[in-house]
Amino acid sequence: MILELLEAKRSGRELSAEQIHAFVGGVVDGSVTRAQAAAFLSFVFCNGMGVDETVALTEAMVQSGDQMSWEGLDGPFVDKHSTGGVGDKVSLVLAPLWAELGSRVPMISGRGLGHTGGTLDKLESIQGYRTDLDESDLSRVLSEVGCFISGQTADLAPADRILYALRNETSTVPSIPLITASILSKKLAEGIDELVLDVKWGSGAFMKTHEDASALADTLCRVGRGAGVMTRAVLTDMNQPLGRTVGNAIEVEEAIACLKGEGPGDLATLTCDLIGDPRAKTVLDSGAAYERFCRMVSAQGGDLSKPLLGSGCSDQTVCAPHGGMITTADAYMIGRAAFVLGAGRQRADQAVHPGVGVVVHKKVGERVAANEPLVTLRVADKGVDRARDLVLSAYSIDG
Ligand code: URA
Repeated sequence: MILELLEAKRSGRELSAEQIHAFVGGVVDGSVTRAQAAAFLSFVFCNGMGVDETVALTEAMVQSGDQMSWEGLDGPFVDKHSTGGVGDKVSLVLAPLWAELGSRVPMISGRGLGHTGGTLDKLESIQGYRTDLDESDLSRVLSEVGCFISGQTADLAPADRILYALRNETSTVPSIPLITASILSKKLAEGIDELVLDVKWGSGAFMKTHEDASALADTLCRVGRGAGVMTRAVLTDMNQPLGRTVGNAIEVEEAIACLKGEGPGDLATLTCDLIGDPRAKTVLDSGAAYERFCRMVSAQGGDLSKPLLGSGCSDQTVCAPHGGMITTADAYMIGRAAFVLGAGRQRADQAVHPGVGVVVHKKVGERVAANEPLVTLRVADKGVDRARDLVLSAYSIDG
């Protein structure tokens, strides 16, 4: 059976849903060897998969583990996924705001590898905040507050964990059907009715071009809908950081300001666009979503009356070598600067520093005078010189 399936995929033939379910079942119970699974991934990488096959792969991966259900609670149950960017703290604003608008947001999030930590790392800079809630805690918080942001439970889409590790080992990560099944399997296991995808493109994004991001968004939407969830996507530019902070605790501070209706504008606009409810901006400006964020933090054990972790860093400014108009504030380079200061990680077992990062004073289209600060680096014990070089090469100033 498995050899037949491998031969079919090697020759580019379409697999049936039954074959794909048997394959995924075998990956999880060990009857499909790691070598066979790696061969499957390589054939998919080279020959692709149709929408029906990708729907079957996604559903099989969802069914490989626990599927959350929110019996006794009223929906709609909604969530967002972002393909990841620099300064992307949207989840922290979006979850309480969407809950404030009447939906329930069961947001399972990740730590991520990259320039800064993921959403969970950012939230963990709030003292006491727990990201390891079990299903009964998740249900309680969703019922009491209307949203949670927590980590993956042990048995959520275990097939993805195995296949993702193999993709990393076999250089088969950048395949649209494999990315699609991986992202959607974890989101669909949350028991949601509606999913919005923030698919980013540009220097600080996983997809560098608009065209590639658009192809990924299209597949994600078709497969999500094929699996029975209302799915839509927004394509967003990630050539410069989102908002004005890149780090962990400093991103939480900026998200809190946004929840109080105090911007920054691009973060507020993107969050409202993703939610797609005409009332979103008025509710955000009212500060009501901030109250809900506080309730969520407190229900998850966090204490916002205490200082965020990572205080005690020092600030160093990086100034413009000459005056003029900012034409580039490259997200990748500014993200790297945050990374070398210790804000991110390369391997899952590494810790991130909660306090370090980059505060961005100047963005594209703004004017700067000679010797005026472009950014402030928030530094602890490493990376200052390299971060300064990265920031200087991130900026183009016309004039
Ligand atoms: N994020 C995921 O969860 N999976 C992928 O394959 C890529 C990004």
